[in-house]
Amino acid sequence: MIDRFQRHVTYLRISVTDRCQMRCSYCSLPSKPQPTLSAAELHQIVGVAVARLGFRKVRLTGGEPLLRRDLGEIISGLASLEGMREVAVTTNGLGLVERAEELARAGLRTVNISCDSLRPERFRELAGAGHLEDVLAGLRACRTAGISNIKLNVVLMGGVNDDEVDAFVDFAAAEAVEVRFIEQMPLSGGAGGKGAAPNQAGMSLDPAAIVEQLAARRTLKPLPASKAGGPAERYSIDGAVVGFIRAISGPFCDRCNRLRITSDGKIRSCLLTGGDVDLAQAVRRAGTAKEIEGRIEALLRQAADSKPALYELQREGAIRMREIGG
Ligand code: GTP
Ligand code: 5AD
Ligand code: SF4
Repeated sequence: MIDRFQRHVTYLRISVTDRCQMRCSYCSLPSKPQPTLSAAELHQIVGVAVARLGFRKVRLTGGEPLLRRDLGEIISGLASLEGMREVAVTTNGLGLVERAEELARAGLRTVNISCDSLRPERFRELAGAGHLEDVLAGLRACRTAGISNIKLNVVLMGGVNDDEVDAFVDFAAAEAVEVRFIEQMPLSGGAGGKGAAPNQAGMSLDPAAIVEQLAARRTLKPLPASKAGGPAERYSIDGAVVGFIRAISGPFCDRCNRLRITSDGKIRSCLLTGGDVDLAQAVRRAGTAKEIEGRIEALLRQAADSKPALYELQREGAIRMREIGG
């Protein structure tokens, strides 16, 4: 689908649950749990997006998508749609050891894993749950299972984990995974509870500053953007592939190719801007399959038409990351 600004919108990100075991400080707490879309509803929605509107990629996010027991069923259903190029998952990595094979069999080839520290104690402190060794074992289990495209997401927190930049770069080289340093976006209501200051675990850092510091001590060679048109500026650094995501300081809205579906079944045209459209209700209202699919198509078109040229940051607290899925 082509939007008002001639952007090709072909990538759907779906938050399949707002539940998560972790409590990262920069991620908003879930509000009252809302019913999620079922595997069958997701199949119907994405079926329309692929067949009628030319979507080619889906990323399942959360909350923590692995908390859905039917994740394998969702993936295999979506991966089998004619025209679907890629079904990906963004996960905190817990439970991957046990599920990697099942998910690979379902058709998963691409996983982004969140990991903000390579030091076990710091990891635990930042995530509030889980163990670093389980996340790293999950990463390796993915590779063994044939999930070959693996990226590690590191949210940069000034004074908290910015002393681990070199360790992450070395990790990227040693494990042959792409590591991305992500600018922390100012979302409030995190683990500090109601009224907590945004970004309270550490200052937000512009990844461009990290690039500059790295360039002073290592050799950086710019790489082309990923084929799927992702938000990262990428470099090769001493054999490692390293990306930098500057959502706030260097927005990439001009090449945004995404629509989102929230865990409670709303279409969101921009991560940061809001103006959600209720899809779940349209799917559940009585009608023939043809009528329901017509409604899905109309709402997806409406959402694409309302994509802003450049994000407008919503008021603090209005961006509920777990429901939107990042
Ligand atoms: P791929 O390109 O498919 O690998 O996905 P990705 O890197 O965009 O996905 P991932 O879920 O790993 O997200 C990485 C970071 O980019 C997270 O902090 C997301 O919140 C952020 N991000 C992803 N898409 C957008 C976007 O459209 N706008 C903004 N502002 N941030 C985004
Ligand atoms: N700013 C930047 N990235 C964030 N993520 C979650 N909250 C924020 C935030 N406030 C990241 C997670 C995960 C991805 C989906 O989004 O670390 O890797
Ligand atoms: Fe959980 Fe991801 Fe939010 Fe961290 S960023 S609390 S892992 S949903």
